[in-house]
Amino acid sequence: MERPEIDLRSASVARIFDYYLGGAHNFAVDRVLADAAAKLMPELPRMMHLHRRFLARAMGHVVEQGVTQFIDLGSGLPTPGGSAEVARRLDPSSRVVHVDIDPAVEAHGKRLLDAADSAVVVGDMCDPDAILDHPETRRLLDFSRPVGLLLVGVLDFVGYDVDLPAIIARYRDRVVSGSHIVLTNFSVDGGDEEYQRTEQLYRDHTIDFHPRSAAEVTELLAGFELAEPGVVDVSLWRPEAVVEDLDEHPERSAVHVAVGRKP
Ligand SMILES: C[S@@+](CC[C@H](N)C(=O)[O-])C[C@H]1O[C@@H](n2cnc3c(N)ncnc32)[C@H](O)[C@@H]1O
Repeated sequence: MERPEIDLRSASVARIFDYYLGGAHNFAVDRVLADAAAKLMPELPRMMHLHRRFLARAMGHVVEQGVTQFIDLGSGLPTPGGSAEVARRLDPSSRVVHVDIDPAVEAHGKRLLDAADSAVVVGDMCDPDAILDHPETRRLLDFSRPVGLLLVGVLDFVGYDVDLPAIIARYRDRVVSGSHIVLTNFSVDGGDEEYQRTEQLYRDHTIDFHPRSAAEVTELLAGFELAEPGVVDVSLWRPEAVVEDLDEHPERSAVHVAVGRKP
């Protein structure tokens, strides 16, 4: 199969995220854009950390429900604190399929991840059948048992022209009862001028950003029972005892999150 090339001339969301999280798998083109965006919106790197901390809390909840196999859609590069590391810490027998549209994730992922409990699939999350029927997904996961679907920091990059409710419904229909979904999406509700300028900066570098309202996020979760406290700001989903500046100002983080269970 022909592999897409890694493009070193344009910035990549996966590598920008890696840079914000202190990873080493990024290039000058990514760092320039990431620094410019962080100048416009200084809390941006911190918001990435909030995503990561939510991921750990949400995966903790899902593992408590007995689910130890995950499909991480839009996984990004396997950075410290990513799904593979969290899963292994929560339950050493966990398995994680990393799915990303960016071929850099496969190139680095295969080196960084243990093939026994992880797999890397280059693919578009908007094609659920291709992802779920991929030989690597089938090799690693047992679809007679519940699966955790992770959509953390990825829906922001899925266009409004895509029928996202239908795509998520397809994933839901193909997994057994007791499966879970963990989801985040930047919010349209908190968008101030800084936020919009940052969005424009990404857009100028051909990275389109798609915030959604709480109602739209809720619609994506149709057919799932929402875990408490439902669709809320990232800092309000079962917050840790540690209080950070940003946690005290949830309107500034402006990211909707939720966890749902297929009944
Ligand atoms: C901000 S990163 C999130 C990384 C990771 N989920 C985390 O929480 O650390 C978003 C990732 O989604 C990937 N992505 C964007 N659109 C995608 C799509 N349609 N299918 C799969 N991956 C996609 C990007 O390449 C990028 O690596």
